[in-house]
Amino acid sequence: AKIRILSNKKAAKLRNFDSPKKRRVKMPWVDVEDSPRSKRKQGKRPSLNGLHKTPNRFSAPNGPSSPSKSNGSVDGPTKPGKSSSLQEQRRALPIALGREKLIAKIRQNDVIVLLGETGSGKTTQVPQYILESGIAGTRMVAVTQPRRVAATSLAARVAAEQNVKVGAAVGYSVRFDERSGPDTRIKYLTDGMIVRELLSDPLLSRYSVIIVDEAHERTLRTDLLLASLKGIQKYRSQPSDAKGKGRASLLNPLKIVVMSATLDAEKFSKFFDNAPIEYIQGRQHPVQIFHSAESQSDYLAAALRVFFQVHTDQGPGDVLIFLPGQDDIESLEKSIRLYANKLPHKSMEVVICPMYAAQAAGQNSKVFNAAPPNTRKCILATNIAETSITIPGVKYVIDTGKCKEKQYLARETGGGFDTLLTKDITKSSANQRAGRAGREGSGVCFRLYTEAAYNNMAVSADPEIRRCSLTSSVLQLKCLGQDFQELDFMDKPDYDSVVSAYKSLWLFGALNNSKELTPTGRQMAAFPLDPCYARIVLASKEYNCAPEIVEIVSVLSASSKLFVDVSDQRDSAAELRRKFRHPTGDHLTILGVVKAYQEIALAENKAGRREWCRKHFLNERALLEARDIRDQLKQTCARFGISFDEGVRADNNNDDAVLKALAHGLVQNSALLQPDGVTYKQTMGHTTVKIHPSSALSDRKHPAIIFNELVYTNQVYARGVSSIPKSFFLSIPTLNQRHS
Ligand code: CDP
Ligand code: MG
Repeated sequence: AKIRILSNKKAAKLRNFDSPKKRRVKMPWVDVEDSPRSKRKQGKRPSLNGLHKTPNRFSAPNGPSSPSKSNGSVDGPTKPGKSSSLQEQRRALPIALGREKLIAKIRQNDVIVLLGETGSGKTTQVPQYILESGIAGTRMVAVTQPRRVAATSLAARVAAEQNVKVGAAVGYSVRFDERSGPDTRIKYLTDGMIVRELLSDPLLSRYSVIIVDEAHERTLRTDLLLASLKGIQKYRSQPSDAKGKGRASLLNPLKIVVMSATLDAEKFSKFFDNAPIEYIQGRQHPVQIFHSAESQSDYLAAALRVFFQVHTDQGPGDVLIFLPGQDDIESLEKSIRLYANKLPHKSMEVVICPMYAAQAAGQNSKVFNAAPPNTRKCILATNIAETSITIPGVKYVIDTGKCKEKQYLARETGGGFDTLLTKDITKSSANQRAGRAGREGSGVCFRLYTEAAYNNMAVSADPEIRRCSLTSSVLQLKCLGQDFQELDFMDKPDYDSVVSAYKSLWLFGALNNSKELTPTGRQMAAFPLDPCYARIVLASKEYNCAPEIVEIVSVLSASSKLFVDVSDQRDSAAELRRKFRHPTGDHLTILGVVKAYQEIALAENKAGRREWCRKHFLNERALLEARDIRDQLKQTCARFGISFDEGVRADNNNDDAVLKALAHGLVQNSALLQPDGVTYKQTMGHTTVKIHPSSALSDRKHPAIIFNELVYTNQVYARGVSSIPKSFFLSIPTLNQRHS
């Protein structure tokens, strides 16, 4: 199970792809083997995951030998045949060989760190082993995931392996969507959801084992969870006669399994007082890596070209293309469709499977099915396919070298807001991505960047806690009676970000002048929303406009965008959208769209609704998701006596109230028109911004604006903008205090 970088002269001579338009495009490749620099360093070339270098301490019970004898013989994707049952597939996973030893280790230790390469069976098998061996007792096993689509699709897989329905013995819980019940024993949740569960159950008493999966990603929520788990574990393992609340004694000790696909296990082990590290011997086949000879200015065009190069020249095997985000995925999907239709009839058919974090549950099941005969699956994925989801059948990987990363600009924005920036990936990601081609047989990875660019990449990413807004975490910890600075984190957060989080919460009225949690703060934390949106919902009670605000906030919290990107048909779309356009800007425009859709929904059938959305360049998925979110938010609202009796008003007499409520949450996202009449200066930051061209407001001047987010391109743009009278800021109590 060692990674070799093959020299394959035939593959090195990849023909330049002739696009169906007969335009000759050059896509020269350098085989890494042919480049003198790499030859020199070949011995030191980082392995695809480095796992083979680590001692094989986790192995078959009868000896330390490598478990995978079948390696060499496999060439080309080997899909589990129809005859092989799910149970056979389970037994064939690398992790299965060490099952008994692993169970014993978990039984003996309160914390273990489990390291194994992607696809070895950690996420799907470990929870089942724990359950089947009785370690879990009568309580539940939680498995945390950084992304919702991973949580939902893995729950579906494990439910199938256990031969139960999702929501029965195996369930999941992600924001705005829960499938679990009284019988649930294994629950896949996003790291955000388990942090939320802490608020109502601070000792996580429903669980006996918490599996912190994908720990190497170091998301803010995972770090927060790890820090909290340390304290919870200590409390729950107090002897039953210990003084205290007496509640701990009723609970069995909590077990923690930290799982990771990369080599940073030591750090986790240290954090948990030198917890033992277990390694799973993986099966990795050789992957041949090609770098682009020149840097590519347009990674989408390059990916398109290389895909068809592979598709027309290479043998069977599915293609996995790594892209930064949903937008790119959707646009590449369109282009591939377009060109694939123009290929000669005898070519293999292309089945495109998009895969990104925001996808709804169940939307991606075809990605796991084997491609039908004479078709090639083309999977367009974000870095979700790097380690959290293994897709069978992949032989070719095309890596754009880009990802989207949350970035917090505390100083620039003056507020607690994250932006998603498209960035270069790290070496660790690049190696993981390449590794995805060698899961089932030898594979090929095409990197759309030069070898020099690879060498310049950072080794691994900064943990999120050092680059994300901490506002919601500070608030959640406050609700648990803890202060962010006092918690023992693996990496200390940036001082500026902590200060900025406290400032935001104070401006929202969630903390008082002595940094104590207020009733408003506690209510805000109860909403599964970004704190600024939670504040807006609470303000809507005061201004009597909850039905309108909840509709708007639901659309803003949905994972898909409401307005379809229409860069190629901007004029006709603008024309059609004009009728929804509200003079005060984007927030009330959204409300107008929702109202119109609700009317259509009453009058039309499913096909009619879909057609209406298509005609108006609206994303129906966003509207449907928003409807579900709204129904959930209503339940939380009911707990705080926020009334929906009147419903959304048909006349627009409530517009001022809606804008006032919005101003409460977007107080830090506000700006005033500058004398130049074009730019706006932030009221609480130092940045000068322009209104984004996509906004309903972009063509006129407005004395004061509030906005949802800032977008950084060559310019700083405010997106999701409404115009408000300056006087509205005066209705916000903390602002008055600040200025008086
Ligand atoms: O967590 P780890 O990366 O170690 O592996 P896993 O997610 O447990 O996946 C083990 C195996 O299950 C892989 O071969 C996947 O392809 C397969 N799997 C699947 O076929 N369908 C799913 N929905 C999830 C996993
Ligand atoms: Mg996994």
